[in-house]
Amino acid sequence: MHILRVDFNIFLPSSSDPKMKTRSPLDRQVQSLFPLALASVLIIGTARLVLDNLRSYRSDAFRLRGEHRVPMLVLPEDRIRDECDVFQGQWVWDNVSYPLYREDQCPYLVKQVTCLKNGRPDSMYQNWRWQPNRCNLPRFDPWMMLEMIRNKRLMFVGDSIQRTQFDSMVCLVQSVIPEGKGSLRRVPPRKIFTIKDYNASIEYYWAPFIVESISDHATNHTVHKRLVKLDSVANHSKYWEGVDVLVFESYVWWMHKPQINATYGSRDNVREYNVTDAYRLALETWANWIESSIDPQKQKVFFMSTSPTHLWSWEWRPGSDGNCFSELYPIQSPYWGSGSNLEIMKIVHHALRQLKIHVTFLNITQMSEFRKDAHTSVFTERKGKLLTKEQRSDPKSFGDCIHWCLPGVPDAWNEILYAYLLKDHRTIL
Ligand SMILES: *[C@@H]1O[C@H](CO)[C@@H](O)[C@H](O)[C@H]1NC(C)=O
Ligand SMILES: *[C@@H]1O[C@H](CO)[C@@H](O)[C@H](O)[C@H]1NC(C)=O
Ligand SMILES: *[C@@H]1O[C@H](CO)[C@@H](O)[C@H](O)[C@H]1NC(C)=O
Ligand SMILES: *[C@@H]1O[C@H](CO)[C@@H](O)[C@H](O)[C@H]1NC(C)=O
Ligand SMILES: *[C@@H]1O[C@H](CO)[C@@H](O)[C@H](O)[C@H]1NC(C)=O
Ligand SMILES: *[C@@H]1O[C@H](CO)[C@@H](O)[C@H](O)[C@H]1NC(C)=O
Ligand SMILES: *[C@@H]1O[C@H](CO)[C@@H](O)[C@H](O)[C@H]1NC(C)=O
Repeated sequence: MHILRVDFNIFLPSSSDPKMKTRSPLDRQVQSLFPLALASVLIIGTARLVLDNLRSYRSDAFRLRGEHRVPMLVLPEDRIRDECDVFQGQWVWDNVSYPLYREDQCPYLVKQVTCLKNGRPDSMYQNWRWQPNRCNLPRFDPWMMLEMIRNKRLMFVGDSIQRTQFDSMVCLVQSVIPEGKGSLRRVPPRKIFTIKDYNASIEYYWAPFIVESISDHATNHTVHKRLVKLDSVANHSKYWEGVDVLVFESYVWWMHKPQINATYGSRDNVREYNVTDAYRLALETWANWIESSIDPQKQKVFFMSTSPTHLWSWEWRPGSDGNCFSELYPIQSPYWGSGSNLEIMKIVHHALRQLKIHVTFLNITQMSEFRKDAHTSVFTERKGKLLTKEQRSDPKSFGDCIHWCLPGVPDAWNEILYAYLLKDHRTIL
């Protein structure tokens, strides 16, 4: 760990340099980003996908009182304007409206993210609202969300970060679904939440590299052994065909080391690639699938930017030597951590610009960078088990500063996704 830290230190920008304009050329390379901490966090991968013992569904939060909802209209002020950059803004204290659901009232949350239940003593991380600088986000209305996916499928594709966004979306809508009308099934590598009355589903698909890899097994995978097939997405994409709203994400698994073993063409020809080169090729493969398979009249595609990590507290508090553990407040000043690789972001941006089909890039990195307080840290599980008392007392070794607590930051990503869907939603009366 120490060696890695020293290595890493070389690349550190000053933490008060938000735009990163002065970063060294090393910025262009992928840093050996994540030390042991990350690797072991990723080993458990989606173990939860099949191993959770799912609590039976109960709808405490909501009871249908037989009222009929009026046809849903989108108010003009709820349609975000094209010129508004919803990703520039600040976190505002709002313990009246937030969180949007309660941790103990969403039966679908996995142990990995239920920080309060796992012993986190503070809950302020749940009470921040994302406020864009020049406009307001519409208030998340679960009824409207369900209306927008009526007779449709919404699917999140990616790694465990993306799974948390899926979990968040399920929790955001589940409170208004009458008892027995919503159900969650695990069909590895998928999780499927169906809402009967709406003939709708919210789904998750495990594909940590988007393209095929030896890490595609939903539960048995490790970030230590990576072999990626840069030219093939077919085994996954057959599950993506025809899905109405697709939300992609892939980052952290690429960043384990600056090089990655991969094939392109012959399966026997395994080579080490620069991660940036490999990522570019993988996205080309993905982009080809998008162009050949997406019908832009019927389908919508989103791509999530990098979810930031908070592994080194000296980045926001020079001189300190911790991580995200025991952080209580968002960062106020401009901040961009060295874990969020701008080169990878540019590759995504470039790939999306080349596409003939519009894919919306949700640039949530900056807003999430502020949230050093919102990671699961030691209030989580590892390899399917809650951390022991001993492990908890050693946050430097066991703190998870990659994944997020729920309710929390991924809810805000979904509020933004919701805003984008609402923007284009045509109300039919
Ligand atoms: C909400 O926050 C305010 C300001 O910090 C505080 O005075 C109040 O007690 C809080 N209310 C609740 C319900 O936590
Ligand atoms: C129900 O949803 C499926 C999948 O989204 C869709 O293909 C089908 O047309 C829907 N059924 C009706 C009756 O609209
Ligand atoms: C893709 O599917 C083929 C045929 O089902 C299978 O042989 C192969 O192992 C799969 N590849 C991956 C990466 O799962
Ligand atoms: C996990 O995968 C490895 C290699 O693919 C295999 O050797 C091992 O038996 C698998 N473990 C389980 C529990 O399936
Ligand atoms: C690539 O695979 C070889 C052989 O298994 C291994 O020695 C090497 O460390 C791997 N490279 C990376 C970057 O993982
Ligand atoms: C990445 O590849 C480029 C050439 O494609 C090479 O110049 C550079 O040294 C490589 N970077 C690393 C970190 O290997
Ligand atoms: C995403 O946002 C960051 C921070 O505001 C910015 O530096 C970056 O250029 C944006 N990326 C794209 C592709 O727009």
